[in-house]
Amino acid sequence: MPERPVLIAQISDLHIKSPGSLAYGRVDTAAALERCVAALNEFRPRPDLVVISGDLADTPTIEEYQHLKRLLAPLDLPFVGIPGNHDSRELMRAAFPHGYAFASGPLNQRLEIRGLDLLLLDSNVPGKPHGELDAPTLQWLDATLAASPDRPALVFLHHPPFRTGIWHMDRQNLRNAGELAPIVRRHPRVQLIAAGHVHRATLAAFAGARSTICPAPNHAVDLDLAQMREPSFKVEPPAYHLHSWLPGEGFGTVITHHVPIGNFDGPHPFFGPDGKLL
Ligand SMILES: [Fe+2]
Repeated sequence: MPERPVLIAQISDLHIKSPGSLAYGRVDTAAALERCVAALNEFRPRPDLVVISGDLADTPTIEEYQHLKRLLAPLDLPFVGIPGNHDSRELMRAAFPHGYAFASGPLNQRLEIRGLDLLLLDSNVPGKPHGELDAPTLQWLDATLAASPDRPALVFLHHPPFRTGIWHMDRQNLRNAGELAPIVRRHPRVQLIAAGHVHRATLAAFAGARSTICPAPNHAVDLDLAQMREPSFKVEPPAYHLHSWLPGEGFGTVITHHVPIGNFDGPHPFFGPDGKLL
C-alpha cells in the first residue's frame, strides 16, 4: 500500500447571506456551498480536514453565521475557519467558539495532523477590505514556527501576500506582507502559504515559499489584468483546492490539486480487461 497522504481540503469565500438573499442580487451562494459540501463528502480518500479561508459570511450578521452553520451541518469532515474581510471576529468566535490561540482578538489557530502543522492566521482589519497581520499575530507565528523547526507547516490566511495583477484586488491584499516575509524566510519549514479573497486559482512565490489562492464555490473575480473594467465578477466553474502532504526527505512533498465542483462524465478506464488501451 502506498503511504497515505495528509489531505487538507481548502474552500474559500463562501459569502453566505441570510436565507433567500443573493450575493450582488445574482449569485446563490448558499446553493453553491451545498454543492461544495456534497463534493467534499463524496471525495475519497476522505480529507483529514477542511480549512475555510475567509469570507464565510457576507455582511456579516448573526443570521448569516446561523445560516452558514445549517449549510455546513451535512459536512462529514472536521472543519476550521479563518476570518476574511467580510467576517466579524466576534460573531465568528461566537458561532465557532473553540480552538483559538488567543482568548480575544485575532482568531489564529495551530493544528497538527500526523506530523504536519497548520497555522491559520487572522488577517482581518475590522471594517476594512484590505488585510493586515497585527503584531501579536506575527509574534505568535514566529514563535510557533520556531517551536518545532523539523515539522513542515502550511500557513493559511485570507488576504494574499502578493499582487495578482487584478487592480482592484491588489489594493486590498495583505498590506504588511513585508513583515510576514522575513518570518517565512527564517523558517524554511513553511511549505505553502494558502490564501483566498480573489475567488480564483492562482500560484505565486512569496519569500521563497509557494503561495496559492483558492478558487471559490460560487463566483470568480473577473481576470481583468489591464484595468479595462470596473470591479466585476464572473460565474466561472466552481472549485476547491486539495493540499496533499506526503512525508519524505526533508519536509516531504506538498501537492496542490485544483478540484472542480460538479458532476462530470467518468471516471472511465483507460484499459480494457485484456490490458490493452481502449
Ligand atoms: Fe475577501
